[in-house]
Amino acid sequence: MTSIALPTAVLLLVGGAVAVQSIGPAAAAETTLRAAAAQAGLFFGVAASPGRLSSIVGQEFNQLTPENDMKPSTIATSTGGLQNTGNADTLVNYAQTNNMLVRGHTMVWHSQAGALQGANQATLNTFIGNALNRWGNRIAYWDVVNEALDDNNTGRRRTQWPHSLNRDANGDGDFFDAGDTDVIRDSFIRAKQVVQAGGLTTKLCINDYDVEGLTVQGGTQNRKANALYDIVRNYRQYIDCVGFQAHFNDNPNSIITNDLQANIQRFADLGVEVHITELDIDDDLSNNDIGAGQAENYRKVVRACLNVAKCTGITVWGISDSESWRSSERGLLFTGSNGNYQKKAAYTAVLDELNKGRVPINPTSPNTPSSPSVSPTVSPTVSPTPSTGCTATVSLDSWTGGFVATVTVTAGTAPINGWNVLLTLPSGSTVTNSWNATRGGNSGAVQFSNLSYNGRVNTGQSTQFGFQGTGTATGLTPVCTAS
Ligand code: G3I
Repeated sequence: MTSIALPTAVLLLVGGAVAVQSIGPAAAAETTLRAAAAQAGLFFGVAASPGRLSSIVGQEFNQLTPENDMKPSTIATSTGGLQNTGNADTLVNYAQTNNMLVRGHTMVWHSQAGALQGANQATLNTFIGNALNRWGNRIAYWDVVNEALDDNNTGRRRTQWPHSLNRDANGDGDFFDAGDTDVIRDSFIRAKQVVQAGGLTTKLCINDYDVEGLTVQGGTQNRKANALYDIVRNYRQYIDCVGFQAHFNDNPNSIITNDLQANIQRFADLGVEVHITELDIDDDLSNNDIGAGQAENYRKVVRACLNVAKCTGITVWGISDSESWRSSERGLLFTGSNGNYQKKAAYTAVLDELNKGRVPINPTSPNTPSSPSVSPTVSPTVSPTPSTGCTATVSLDSWTGGFVATVTVTAGTAPINGWNVLLTLPSGSTVTNSWNATRGGNSGAVQFSNLSYNGRVNTGQSTQFGFQGTGTATGLTPVCTAS
């Protein structure tokens, strides 16, 4: 294990990836984003190109994403080889000199594919191998697949290349079956093989936009987020991390909803790291009824990440408004240009929120599975019970006067399409909040049922939901029934 040379020692790297995620309140206010983030146990990064490597990059940020210089349009040949890696090398070298993590962006993408456009899976695999091996552990995270899902909240995959390679062999509407062809699965399998063969520690990510909330504006379920969740759950063995791009604007699917944290949490519950990868927030969002201004919107996003231990990094998509891909919306943390930058209110809000550390600000708010403020006692799993097609187990974090329960639902010898879990709470105990399930009742016999995105569980596989309550929850005996 090596330690990154940051003002505090809590951001540790294991082969380049964030390993320590959870600490208590910040000890002292830090004065840069990277120091404040490191103190809270996450990275705070920026997208840049070689022409934008002013001193502020290394001073304020401890992670770097090439905004355009590692895209296939720049570095891929038509046979999956590498070319024109000079700018990418410049960025990786700068990051190394300044103790910054690097996110490779990106390998398999319908856009900016350059010479790779139209390639078959074998050629994509060649490119994946070349890109991974070119920089090895100097790249901590790679976006292996980018923007695989359709727009407009359809919940479907894209259909243009490379997704035109996909085949739903049995016509059941998904690409998860053994006989199916899936460019997402096959690209991740190849990437995982290369990582393992080379003994690399590089983590493999899937990245997309409009996947940030459980819902979209108006409360409609976020089908695109649900589709991403299904992909990560099915291919969990190959996928290490999930990127929420977080280009927030006034599109109904791109709004900052109050369930951002709960959505980060459900992906984290799959065991992957979650990152906010391309954050920028339209200044005009201040005019909607969802926030009091851009700075408060930034604060909200940072807080949602801080409140989930496995949300291990935030990256803003550029330094300054005028140099952003969406400059007219003034979505970043600085104004100015060419290295002469001024901090905005959004910068101050982000710094302040990072300095508060990973402490929930409102432990009882809806969709906010929170940690207790006193030391919890972690109880081992409570016994599974006989069931029709599924079993459920409960793991408890308890403290005086309250608890958080995580319930694992496991399918038996056949896949299930839905589940119900009945729990009887001790007298005097009350559920105050739950996530990843619908709930009937708050006390006594409480029933939890799957949501649309987590009802399907394959043979022997599991999904989790959770709830928070007052009182005690020891000795719970869950009864699981499948449908
Ligand atoms: O460098 C050339 C310049 O020489 C030329 O004169 C000019 C003429 O248009 O183009 C310049 O290249 C542009 C490049 O940005 C650098 O500024 C490209 O046209 C332009 O297409 C490219 O846009 C990038 C865009 O991805 C392409 O899809 C943006 O900078 C970049 O911020 C954006 O990033 C994407 C992420 O990769 C994926 N998620 C969404 C995000 C925003 O769209």
